Amino acid sequence: MKVLGIWDGHDSGAAIIEDNRILFAMNEERLTRRKLEIIFPAGSIEACLKNSNTSCAEIIEIAVSTSDFAKTLTRIFPSLKEAYYMIRRRKAEPASSSKIKKHLKYKLTEIPPSKITNFISRCYLRNRLQKIGFKNFNLHLIDHHHCHAVSAFCSGFDRSTVITLDGLGDGLSGSVYRFERGELYRVSAIPASHSLGVFFEHVTNLMNMRELEDEGKVMALANYAYPVDDNNNPMIDLMQIKNLSVRCRYSSLAMYDALKKIFWKYPSEQFAFMAQRTLEIKILELVKNAVNKTGIDNLCLAGGVFSNVKVNRLIRNLPEVNRCYVFPHMGDGGLPIGAAFALNNRLNGVSQISLEDVFLGPRYSDNEVEQALVHCGISYKKSENIINEVAQIITSGEIVFWFQGRMEIGPRSLGARSIIARPDSLEIKDRLNLQLKKRVWYQPFCPSMLEEDAKEILIDYDGNPNEFMTMAYQVRKSKRNLVQGVINIDGSCRPQILKRKSILLSYLLEEIKKLTGTGILLNTSFNIHGEPLVCSPEDAIKTFLLTGNRYMAINNYLVTQ
Ligand SMILES: [Fe+2]
Repeated sequence: MKVLGIWDGHDSGAAIIEDNRILFAMNEERLTRRKLEIIFPAGSIEACLKNSNTSCAEIIEIAVSTSDFAKTLTRIFPSLKEAYYMIRRRKAEPASSSKIKKHLKYKLTEIPPSKITNFISRCYLRNRLQKIGFKNFNLHLIDHHHCHAVSAFCSGFDRSTVITLDGLGDGLSGSVYRFERGELYRVSAIPASHSLGVFFEHVTNLMNMRELEDEGKVMALANYAYPVDDNNNPMIDLMQIKNLSVRCRYSSLAMYDALKKIFWKYPSEQFAFMAQRTLEIKILELVKNAVNKTGIDNLCLAGGVFSNVKVNRLIRNLPEVNRCYVFPHMGDGGLPIGAAFALNNRLNGVSQISLEDVFLGPRYSDNEVEQALVHCGISYKKSENIINEVAQIITSGEIVFWFQGRMEIGPRSLGARSIIARPDSLEIKDRLNLQLKKRVWYQPFCPSMLEEDAKEILIDYDGNPNEFMTMAYQVRKSKRNLVQGVINIDGSCRPQILKRKSILLSYLLEEIKKLTGTGILLNTSFNIHGEPLVCSPEDAIKTFLLTGNRYMAINNYLVTQ
């Protein structure tokens, strides 16, 4: 039986699964070209149907995440979320009434679902789905944090402690579950009014960065601070961990004001440092309590807060933790998959899903690629061996735009739509940052590496290849010259660790290793900073032309300009 999962909020999207496999999944931003798109994901739903050869009539079971008050309100009045989206992304100036609106937003988003919001959400969603062509179907509303938690089905663990943490959704900002014998049991629910995610959102916003998007920049900037001792960090007392819950001293908006007062006193990088340190301390405490309570030392983590790779590294290295799995699409963009998992579990009892890679989006044939290349009149040739040719180009010091196979889902570029280069050059790093990607200088690039090299260069590699760039690792001092373009100032990096012959990029890493002695690449997302990852050949060509880079490898075609 095929099950369709939908999420129609921040980073909306759709996923279709059958038995224990995800057939297709994508987020709407890749189609509309608006990063972290918020509209109803009609395009993603249609892509799910088309790419899995499914008709509307075949879909009987549809799962949608979240039906709290605020979500329901924005379903009826989409202009409300559009206005917030435009302000959040700095596309529109906030009006003078924005403080009141912000206050209202935080208050309303904390209200959990009710019979009325469920009823209104159902009416709205039925209507939208009928317009696409679905007729006889069962519509299921699935709790927001449950959708995050079921991502534990992909971990491969039989038993685990599952923790979800995010801004908020369906009245909660987090939860703790015990996953055992194919069942998830909720052991704690953290109220939305006490949110570690909202705390970090406020910090991001105060630093004039985009909340829900630039939290990684805060984490990166923190590395440049002169450290503040925990005893002198005023943020630590703003929250307390009480057993399996979080208690904030202030309401959401009062928390913003309290942070504003702290921000005034410190340089930005120290403010970022104190926030990152506070987040780390609180989450580690919560994790220890959770493992202690469930008695299970394998951890599964999901929710936007776990996009923080430094926090995840600390969790992985806790003596209380055996194995740690972070769902690759940990934020709300992963909710369509979660909704489909949850419903499939409820209807068919499936609780183990194979997720060997995240190449779940569309694929384009050589024919389609060639048509796009001809259409734009760009110079190209078909390569006899694209991997060999790209390896040669990269080792000569050039940057290559790499477009191969099915598009990846999630926040990281993992080898289907990537920009790749040597990892050992500061000059290439600066060229990428300033000319091509237009990113801030303190945000590091990340490496993809063969597992055999990970063992050599990472101090805290635990023998479990992390293919999804969900955690930081520390690089040995003696090896830092090999990866100076892809490490933080503190010597950490966020690697994609690949076994030989696993995905196409691993074959390229093997070729690079033959030429340079190490199988490591700089791997960053194929986009201009602030835009979604490229999806189609047309998107790729447009970005390639716009940046003026020399080389692009798209399927078996080598494009030069
Ligand atoms: Fe969430």
